[in-house]
Amino acid sequence: MEQSPLHKPGQDPRDQDPEPARTPGFVLHPAARARDASARAGSPTTSPHAPDPAPHPADASARAPDPTAPSGLHVAIIMDGNGRWALDRGKPRTAGHRAGAEAVRRTVEAAASLGIGTLTLYAFSSDNWRRPAGEVRALMRLFRAYLARETARCVEQGVRLSVIGRRDRLDLPLRRAIEAAEAATAGGRTLHLRLAVDYSSRDALLQAAGRWRRPFPPSRAAFAELIAEAIHATGGLPDVDLLIRTGGEQRLSDFLLWECAYAELFFTPRLWPDFGPADLEAALTEYRRRERRFGGLGPSSLQATSPEPPPSVAASARRFADSADDAVQDDCPPAASPAPKRISLTA
Ligand code: FPP
Repeated sequence: MEQSPLHKPGQDPRDQDPEPARTPGFVLHPAARARDASARAGSPTTSPHAPDPAPHPADASARAPDPTAPSGLHVAIIMDGNGRWALDRGKPRTAGHRAGAEAVRRTVEAAASLGIGTLTLYAFSSDNWRRPAGEVRALMRLFRAYLARETARCVEQGVRLSVIGRRDRLDLPLRRAIEAAEAATAGGRTLHLRLAVDYSSRDALLQAAGRWRRPFPPSRAAFAELIAEAIHATGGLPDVDLLIRTGGEQRLSDFLLWECAYAELFFTPRLWPDFGPADLEAALTEYRRRERRFGGLGPSSLQATSPEPPPSVAASARRFADSADDAVQDDCPPAASPAPKRISLTA
């Protein structure tokens, strides 16, 4: 098992506490800020969240929007299937991870042109420490090699690269490589690429809860800020629009649980090393077909209860009403004013 310099013999590295330092200069992602503001205003159409019951004293601190965040969708991917891809070819699992790194490169290259502003890739979960030491070592080497090789390309393409998750259990060379890549690409405005390494959503939520020191519960925005700090997410905690999982499994595996509250989910049997721009485009096409309601009513539900039925339905309703009128005319006195017809198109 890969061990950090802070790791004590006999201790499970997953039980070590991350450093408690707060991220300086943290700002909320503009999308999160806008959603939070509209939640507070109680807007049902633009907010994915129900408004908090009352403005919270902790929210009094002003949060400036992050002017550096690229606009566009937030797509998150659980890259699954490397091992099976390799075994299918009679190769060791690590060969699958190497092929997976190539799929990462292809996907990143295609992302911005497909309307993605933030791409978060699940590269190593906190539970992946349980894998054989050789596989963990190979993955850590691969991450470092990827950062060394791709940083220049990211700069060229305007990609800002950052890593979310714990840092304290990563070895020093990898931590240095992460810091160097983040510093070199900090000016990227085309795409924000976030690699999740030693990441656990549950741990992040627990960290955030443990850092709340006040006697009243935090607002969503204040809590999101604490989660962001726990995972070194200096660009805030943007909600996920679309979550893709490759490899045929259909679960979240402790990934972005808070941020996926209203994510659209897309599962594909394609193994990650075979994934490419066409698959990403297909997932986005499916995403754009979906109606996102955030717990409110979308256009299709509103149409279903519209007092003005569509013309073809109106015509047949009129024919039906006319014939009914003819049938009862002799028996009933005329109504003072006819009630508006409501035709429900859906149950
Ligand atoms: C899950 O597939 C994949 C991982 C645990 C590692 C993901 C790593 C990469 C895609 C490699 C490169 C990443 C970067 C950022 C350079 P699995 O091994 O569990 O597959 P299986 O379900 O077929 O066994």
